[in-house]
Amino acid sequence: MNIIDVLGKAGVIPVIVIENEKDAVPLARALVNGGLNVLEVTFRTPAAAGAIAQIRKEVPQAIVGAGTILSVEQLRAAKKAGAVFGVAPGFDPVIVEEAKNALLPFCPGIATASELSQALSAGCQMVKFFPAEAAGGVKMIKNLLGAFRFTGVKFMPTGGVNLSNVKEYLSVPEIVCVGGTWIVPKDALEAGDFGRIEELAAEASKLVGEIRG
Ligand code: 3PG
Repeated sequence: MNIIDVLGKAGVIPVIVIENEKDAVPLARALVNGGLNVLEVTFRTPAAAGAIAQIRKEVPQAIVGAGTILSVEQLRAAKKAGAVFGVAPGFDPVIVEEAKNALLPFCPGIATASELSQALSAGCQMVKFFPAEAAGGVKMIKNLLGAFRFTGVKFMPTGGVNLSNVKEYLSVPEIVCVGGTWIVPKDALEAGDFGRIEELAAEASKLVGEIRG
């Protein structure tokens, strides 16, 4: 299955900010048990690469990617740790090229027609629309599609997406999945409350089932 299909099947991708590597495995298990098996571990913390490696080793049901890739070094670290896809908040042609060389499926971020155009020229088939709500939400994506639909581009909106608006996003056929941090709240992770995280994952996963049928 190609990565776009894998992301599409999941519908909601938890965007993970992890401070302690030791939380990686119980967190991934909670998310998988809740029904979300595609995870994005962001390189916003030094624990990211170690967390990805631990999840790959201990939670084989999880499909783990790396998020917030802002440099070639982070991309290489993500690949080395075992990430199977990469995501970035912005479009950087140097990183896109490196991902291509590393055979790592990569989804750069865009928020304007010009950035989308550049991402398509660089060979990207799917882009992160970020920060989704602040950059115009579903309305902006629909407007972009007016000009770009024929390219076949697919979107993964993140930033301000949550239970209150996920249905609106996932009802657009070109939106493969959404990403969000709401499934892994900072306080729940700090408290080791994996039960709550599992419940949030189950709630999101149920909603995806209802929306997509
Ligand atoms: C991301 O990088 O995907 C966003 O920071 C997620 O945004 P959220 O915190 O609003 O879900």
